[in-house]
Amino acid sequence: GFRGQVTLDGPSGTGKSSVARGVAARLGAAYLDTGAMYRAATVAVLTAGADPADAEAVARVVAAARIEVGTDAATETVLVDGVDVAERIRGAEVTRAVSAVSAVPAVRRQLVDQQRALVAGADAVVVEGRDIGTVVLPDATVKIYLTAAPEARAQRRAAQLGLSAPAEIAELAADLRRRDEFDSSRADSPLRPAADAIVVDSTELDQQGVVARVVTLAREAV
Ligand code: C5P
Repeated sequence: GFRGQVTLDGPSGTGKSSVARGVAARLGAAYLDTGAMYRAATVAVLTAGADPADAEAVARVVAAARIEVGTDAATETVLVDGVDVAERIRGAEVTRAVSAVSAVPAVRRQLVDQQRALVAGADAVVVEGRDIGTVVLPDATVKIYLTAAPEARAQRRAAQLGLSAPAEIAELAADLRRRDEFDSSRADSPLRPAADAIVVDSTELDQQGVVARVVTLAREAV
């Protein structure tokens, strides 16, 4: 079987999570969703009543929080101080605040250390995020950067949320754009492909097609 690390980075709405889970299942690998960790940190900030834009307060709250995210794709464990927040992290309130929280360098250092420790023991692992190939695992076996046309990404997000009105889709597209601009322009670990990443465009491929392509690239890399 496959042994090694697959990194999957890219903007929101590319189907990254579904692809990462599919690839992990096909390779018999562990799976780590680093976005879930930044979202869990955001839950801690909101629960504490801290302002997500106050970097010092954010750093203080997150340093004191116990964030636990599992590495098994079948059971998505996300706990903050022992409380199950797996559903809450997907809510609009968290999605609005997460980019500000994840731009705080102390938060990134803390979570990156945790991410490296979580994958250190795994023979085979798929790690999904924004900076996995560039910062977290620079020596990964194979690095994938997943992109898709903005309209395709908004449509995909809309389908996930059961929305179909043009105004709702336009709002989703604006939200994706805002988050990606923020993630791409932050000083610490901006969203960008690693120099040695393979760019996979999912605009014209269905999910199974993308999974198959990434699995092939992973097997060829070892
Ligand atoms: O992937 P997901 O949409 O759940 O990520 C939520 C947010 O967490 C991203 O918009 C980004 O701001 C942040 N993030 C990050 N670095 C990662 C993963 C996620 O900054 N490795």
